[in-house]
Amino acid sequence: MQYIAVLAICLLANAPRAVLAASKYITDEDLAKCPKDAAQVGDCIKILMNELIPRMRLGDPELNIEPYDPLVINRLSFLYSTGPIDGKISVKNVKIYGFAEHKVDKVNIKVNGDKVKVRVLSNVDKINMLGEYKGELNVNSLQLKPKGFFNVTLFDTAFRVIANGDIYTKDDFRYLHLNDIEIEPKIRDIIVKANGIFPDPELDELAVNIANSYWRDIYAIVLPETRPAWAPVVLRQINQALLHVPIDQFIQPSQ
Ligand SMILES: *[C@@H]1O[C@H](CO)[C@@H](O)[C@H](O)[C@H]1NC(C)=O
Repeated sequence: MQYIAVLAICLLANAPRAVLAASKYITDEDLAKCPKDAAQVGDCIKILMNELIPRMRLGDPELNIEPYDPLVINRLSFLYSTGPIDGKISVKNVKIYGFAEHKVDKVNIKVNGDKVKVRVLSNVDKINMLGEYKGELNVNSLQLKPKGFFNVTLFDTAFRVIANGDIYTKDDFRYLHLNDIEIEPKIRDIIVKANGIFPDPELDELAVNIANSYWRDIYAIVLPETRPAWAPVVLRQINQALLHVPIDQFIQPSQ
């Protein structure tokens, strides 16, 4: 989700543009600048994002932008308690491919004083997630300890992202800090491959088939349940990247 940081690179400004000397800041040499007050500023930022998202896929250590294609997650745990199921699932060595193939469809930005509200619609044809998982689950009175590899492919995912932030000034530069972010992915289809759910290979296959048939129901539970685990991580990473991105750099100076 680091690509969202790229979004913030592009925000509105209404003060004279600061002169940037330090190289630790992102440079804009070959990027168009967006008009400050035009109604088309959303369209302009959309074009910038579509340019930057594939370009920054390997990250930029100076800007604190971590690589996001593949996006690597070393370890993440979810606690579960839904209906008859409760327990814990952890994943490790997860690699997520596809974020750099994002296409931004629409950007809306509202600035009110130093408050900013951003709305972004985007889509990506294919996202592939590979990794290891381990679980301790109680299903009714049944205890499961699944452990194995997974390979999940998402087809035609549409993202709706809404973020609220503040513009603040530091060392004569203006920056954006996000206070909250809402990410709503909608997926057309999923293919799940996994092993180790049950010790018995036939049961294993059955479970995977069930997961593939009922992924919509599973996803409807998993998404809100896991949100508290990943949403703060995404927000923190974006804000870390934003520390190095003075927004005036991407907006035309005031006349
Ligand atoms: C993961 O699954 C997808 C489609 O189901 C497949 O195309 C891909 O080769 C698999 N990747 C690995 C590393 O097994």
